[in-house]
Amino acid sequence: MLTIALPKGRIGDDSLALFEKILDRTFRFGERKLILEEGGFRFLRVRNQDVPTYVFHQAADLGVVGLDVLEEGGLDLVRLLDLGFGRCSVSIGIKEEETLDFSKPSYRVATKMENITRKFFSQKAIPVEIIKLYGSIELAPLVGLADMIVDIVETGETMRQNGLKPALDIMQSSAYLIANKNSFFAKKDEVLDLRSKLEEALGGS
Ligand code: PRP
Repeated sequence: MLTIALPKGRIGDDSLALFEKILDRTFRFGERKLILEEGGFRFLRVRNQDVPTYVFHQAADLGVVGLDVLEEGGLDLVRLLDLGFGRCSVSIGIKEEETLDFSKPSYRVATKMENITRKFFSQKAIPVEIIKLYGSIELAPLVGLADMIVDIVETGETMRQNGLKPALDIMQSSAYLIANKNSFFAKKDEVLDLRSKLEEALGGS
């Protein structure tokens, strides 16, 4: 049996739909249930940012998670397959009327993605003060908490509605099937069989 950690929300729903397709039946988590067993798989429903943790510690063999979350977490995991859905970018956002310039001595950047942000600016040797927030990031420049933000952009609507615009993309993201390293070797046939079924289901959708 393979245990698979799925995030709550859109990526988790799209993942389950894909498993429904390969198992050729419909199923879903009970309203507050966190474990679901179907067709030889055990699915765990966890918070988005917790998926890599479950897989890293082998509480789950596999997981589905956005590349942005994977990069931010920095854990050593096997990336098996780009599932293609959950597409978004991690972008620098600034006020609509401003232009991106890095000529000031330092910038305050609000984000919930501290690691991606720190890496990006340090690679460019741009000094920044990172202000860690947990949500509503778009608010920070409007009230003088930060000069810019680094955040997820999917449709761009949240930035637009708050007078911000994406000024530079740091990375593109989509949902990835990931594996624990030991599980990958110990259950290689099962894992690779699942990967090819998922690939096939994606190709035919
Ligand atoms: C993300 C992000 C933005 C929004 C962008 O938040 O932080 O606020 O989505 O989407 P848009 O470009 O389509 O407007 P999310 O809804 O994932 O919630 P979270 O802050 O809890 O991660």
